Amino acid sequence: MIAYISKHGAVQEFVERAAAETGTQLFDLSSDAAAARDAVGGLPSDGRIVVAAPIYAGSIPKPMLRFLESVREDLLSRRVAIVLSCLYQGEEARIQLAETVPPWLVGHAERQFMIGGRVIMNELKRPVRFLVRKILGHDTDVDTMAWDEVPLLAAWLRGES
Ligand SMILES: Cc1cc2nc3c(=O)[nH]c(=O)nc-3n(C[C@H](O)[C@H](O)[C@H](O)COP(=O)(O)O)c2cc1C
Repeated sequence: MIAYISKHGAVQEFVERAAAETGTQLFDLSSDAAAARDAVGGLPSDGRIVVAAPIYAGSIPKPMLRFLESVREDLLSRRVAIVLSCLYQGEEARIQLAETVPPWLVGHAERQFMIGGRVIMNELKRPVRFLVRKILGHDTDVDTMAWDEVPLLAAWLRGES
């Protein structure tokens, strides 16, 4: 199963592609958190779960943090992969992962997929756009999405890696 949160659609599009390739059930934590909690509890002990989130202003969204804490024991007894969307790759992305994902999950997850990020300025409300301009130092769209990670995530979900 895949439990995700996405504000502007980049994470959603990524996990939807992986789910379509594998027939994996998707749970949007902004609307289906209770169903997602039940589904984690119902997974077999060798079941695989992907948790996917973007970074916003140095944090992952609260509904994801609440979900992770609420199913902490279930996650620790199952196979977990983290999917994280942020604007950076490489070392800076790893730093953001360490600063935003709870350490118990970073230590437990067997795979971490850093999928890049996407910001489309026209889709943002004015104050958010202002904030992004401050963070990025510019006002133009950014797209660093690593779509070539989709088949790798699909392979992990299928148990091939
Ligand atoms: C208001 C705002 C704040 C953001 N803050 C960060 C940040 O602190 N670090 C980062 O790497 N990316 C940051 N981003 C980029 C997002 O992580 C990226 O756009 C991501 O792909 C969004 O995923 P979503 O479309 O699924 O919501 C920010 C984007 C926005 C709009």
